Amino acid sequence: MASSPKTPQAKSRLVRIGEWFDLRLSFRESILPPIVHEIPRSSGSWWYVFGSATLLCFVMQIVTGTCLALVYVPSADQAWNSLEYLNYQQPLGWFLRALHFWGSNFMVALMTIHLVQVFLFGAFKYPRELTWVVGCVLFLCTIGMAFTGQVMRFDQDAYWGLGIGVSMMGRFPVIGESLVHLVLGGPIIGAETLSRFFALHVFVIPGLLLILIGLHLWLVIKVGINEWPMPGRLVTRERYLDEYHALIEEDGEPFVPQGVRKDLVFAGLVLIALFGAAAIFGPAGPNGPPDPTLIDTVPRPDFYFLWLFAAFALLPPYLETPLILTAPVVLIAAAFLLPFYSNLGEKSWKRRPGAWVLVITVFLMLGTLAYLGLSSPWSPHMDAWSGTPTPVQYVEGRTPLELQGAILLQQKQCRNCHSLGGEGGERGPALDHVAAVQTRDEMIRQVLQGDGNMPAYGKHLKPQEVTALVAFLSTLHPSGEPVQRNSASPARPEESVGRGAAASRQPGAPS
Ligand code: HEC
Repeated sequence: MASSPKTPQAKSRLVRIGEWFDLRLSFRESILPPIVHEIPRSSGSWWYVFGSATLLCFVMQIVTGTCLALVYVPSADQAWNSLEYLNYQQPLGWFLRALHFWGSNFMVALMTIHLVQVFLFGAFKYPRELTWVVGCVLFLCTIGMAFTGQVMRFDQDAYWGLGIGVSMMGRFPVIGESLVHLVLGGPIIGAETLSRFFALHVFVIPGLLLILIGLHLWLVIKVGINEWPMPGRLVTRERYLDEYHALIEEDGEPFVPQGVRKDLVFAGLVLIALFGAAAIFGPAGPNGPPDPTLIDTVPRPDFYFLWLFAAFALLPPYLETPLILTAPVVLIAAAFLLPFYSNLGEKSWKRRPGAWVLVITVFLMLGTLAYLGLSSPWSPHMDAWSGTPTPVQYVEGRTPLELQGAILLQQKQCRNCHSLGGEGGERGPALDHVAAVQTRDEMIRQVLQGDGNMPAYGKHLKPQEVTALVAFLSTLHPSGEPVQRNSASPARPEESVGRGAAASRQPGAPS
């Protein structure tokens, strides 16, 4: 009863507060016009929702990431424990981790769809070149977030991902080694490494992202949202802007609220899917407790790096360095320069078959590689060391030293890549007959220096451990088959499933 006379008064007080702020901030002049500016009605399409959805994911990542940072300890010996604490003790900690993990997957996926849509709709053409270029930087930053985020887990996956990333950098001539030092804070993955990646993951890259997203949105609003591309409507430098404005005069709608209606609906769907995925599938890892002796035994990166992992494994070794050094540079340059060599003319994907072919080819390639990365026979079996006992016939009648070697083979997780008695990983050759293939010296060299796809264990095994390992390995030969005693013999090709196994087996060749 008392409310009706009060309402106008309350309103006017609200308005007065609004005016107080506006006098000082002049929102009505600065923020309001871009919010209500007119966009072509055709841009209010379902195809145009992926950019805003990517932004939504980013906001979610900031929120969940900040909450995680309240508990997470960015130190090499505590990080893993703090994640376990979040998973099992902090109420809903697991859900927070799951949201952050799935948020990053969603963000990469939606960003990729957004990129493909912009590419197919010719939205990078005149006058939106700069928007595209900034978008490319945003893409790289987001991938950088995904990569540094994986390192935050500081578990086996993190070691593996880092090992690969760093070995790519180390291949640069001249500056390679310094680059590795800069990134890792030393020659190997150590305590300082995590601090560096933490700084990158929570300050440097997000800061860049915030600034660049601001610039990207500013450009989108200033240059105007791309109209729906009509086949035959060519972009020309002289007429495009006039045509665009004519289009808005003819059939425009305000950005807010009409233009963003579908974005809001889609944002709701994305949130539902995100919470659903987090609740159903839970957080990722941390998988193995951090064990710096094993740099690359867990080749299971998050899905967006799977293809890279497979490509590495499949490339012949002599192609690796040249390709790793040139391919990314060429690809990234080609993407950045796209709006400069294809700037005018046809926008519609219906008249740009090359664009379709490119998109389909790229995704087929990435998909195939990712599939190989998931299913290839050389993938290590990650539970081989813990779950699969050494077959009895391999320990019967062994000396104490040899038995110690058998235990080491198990503990150092060699069996994730090497099978014994048909059980264990298939990334390296089965070890059942290894003594018939390699001499003791070769085994020592193999274990200390690694080779091909096998990591070097030199820094992580004590001399007496190597002796024990090799003593045990030397007992592994079929009865009757002679033991190798002298010069190197080539591996039996049918057992060397690892990449370039035979090609890289030269006596004395360091990995
Ligand atoms: C990341 C997977 C991986 C792990 C872990 C691993 N290896 Fe290997 N290993 C390989 C691959 C791949 C090869 C083949 C190397 C090549 O291409 O020359 C190999 C080869 C070997 C060979 C030579 C076998 C032959 O038939 O020629 C020996 C011996 C060996 N590894 C011992 C070990 C020992 C001991 C450990 C544990 C300390 C270990 N490996 C851990 C992947 C692995």
